[in-house]
Amino acid sequence: MPITVNGNERDLPDDPRVSLLDFLREHLDLTGAKKGCDQGACGACTVLVDGERILSCLALAVQYEGCSVLSIEGLALNGALHPLQTAFIEQDGLQCGYCTPGQICSAIGMIGEIRRGVPSQVTADLSAGPIALSSDELRERMSGNLCRCGAYNGILQAILQTYVDQRRAAE
Ligand code: FES
Ligand code: FES
Repeated sequence: MPITVNGNERDLPDDPRVSLLDFLREHLDLTGAKKGCDQGACGACTVLVDGERILSCLALAVQYEGCSVLSIEGLALNGALHPLQTAFIEQDGLQCGYCTPGQICSAIGMIGEIRRGVPSQVTADLSAGPIALSSDELRERMSGNLCRCGAYNGILQAILQTYVDQRRAAE
């Protein structure tokens, strides 16, 4: 069974030792996901698999036979940026941009975790209903994505603009 990457079916590599990150970058020429540390410490390689954020440097491509992978290249729809991509630009959520694809994929996965009620280290009350998108929650949940440029405040504001401000506007 093949793997689906950004909506397209792809054949898996013959070599079962190929990481998902190398498969994306070296086999499919999808270089958005970055190889920062190659050991699970920086988050630059984050992609979504069936909606869950994973570190693609720590995963083997063959593990995901039959799964659907979404990388930063697959986020724009019909030429329109994903709202979070737009917010990163508007909120100066990047400087060099090296960590940005991983930050954006991670944030999308993180929002899914919050909506499913998955607690974090700083979630105070597990019985208090929906988890608030507070700055503390967002910073904690995004702590696996390092930014050497220190664009953390802009990253936080971009996530808030996309997932909190828009919700308020709809209320
Ligand atoms: S390259 Fe995967 S976590 Fe750093
Ligand atoms: S924008 Fe440069 S590492 Fe994050």
